[in-house]
Amino acid sequence: MEINKQKITDLIEEFKQKRDSVTIKPENLTKFETVALGPEFLSYMNGKGGYYAKFLNFLIARLRPATIVELGNREAVSTVSIFDAIQSYQAEFYTIDIEQDQRFCPEHMYTDPKVHFLFGDVASYEIVKQLPRKIDLLFSDTIHYNFQIQDEFEIYQHLLADKALVAIDDIHLNDKGVFFDAIKFDKWDLTELCHMSGWGLFLFERKQPIDVATQEQNLTRSIMKVWEKKYGKVYAELSKPTFSQKLKESIKKIGFIYKAKLAVGKILKK
Ligand SMILES: C[S@@+](CC[C@H](N)C(=O)[O-])C[C@H]1O[C@@H](n2cnc3c(N)ncnc32)[C@H](O)[C@@H]1O
Repeated sequence: MEINKQKITDLIEEFKQKRDSVTIKPENLTKFETVALGPEFLSYMNGKGGYYAKFLNFLIARLRPATIVELGNREAVSTVSIFDAIQSYQAEFYTIDIEQDQRFCPEHMYTDPKVHFLFGDVASYEIVKQLPRKIDLLFSDTIHYNFQIQDEFEIYQHLLADKALVAIDDIHLNDKGVFFDAIKFDKWDLTELCHMSGWGLFLFERKQPIDVATQEQNLTRSIMKVWEKKYGKVYAELSKPTFSQKLKESIKKIGFIYKAKLAVGKILKK
């Protein structure tokens, strides 16, 4: 994918002018008419609260990234808008979630060979091993905490093409801004345009080209690092003494002090 800072900036400006003319094809919106909460979610698709769905559609239609990965897709507003954009060219689209609730995806999405639905934790090896190794566009919209986006980038940096776009939803929710603020690549805070709770885009560029074997090694190391950290926290929690253990310890101490006092008393009496 041919991209640079100026091209992205120009596309953002162009989208600002054209956003209301960006539309999703009616055949891809059929589920919004029949499934519960359809009208509400269609309004998000059409720009209520921000234009992120239309922006993703526009960006993809214009840049034509060959490989797209989406992290978190329930109920699939963004997923449908990405799908709509890739219908006009050859692309591979992987979309991942723990939950099987892609209620707004039209039936023909499930049989389209360009689309790959994966179910599981985005940070798990089972998911990562099924993904392509040169992602051109990564869109992250899972849980909105700094630790989650940190973990995702720790792993997915090794899956990105040498130049890739990374879009992140809700960058101003909770402590997620910590991640976006620290990014050293060219970046755009598109909150006002795309989503009132925050929406960011950055242009990842690998400084040194890396061979496939080293990249796989780094990937494995990063997955281990993320899971060691996750389990380390759980283990530390589990290793903390429980209330009843603390109580027993205190009773033992009190008993010891009482016995010691008696012993000292006896010695002093003598
Ligand atoms: C905000 S929703 C996604 C919305 C969707 N992108 C859209 O615009 O319609 C977040 C989703 O991320 C999923 N999720 C959270 N943590 C995840 C993880 N570690 N792995 C996979 N999916 C995850 C949740 O199950 C939830 O469905």
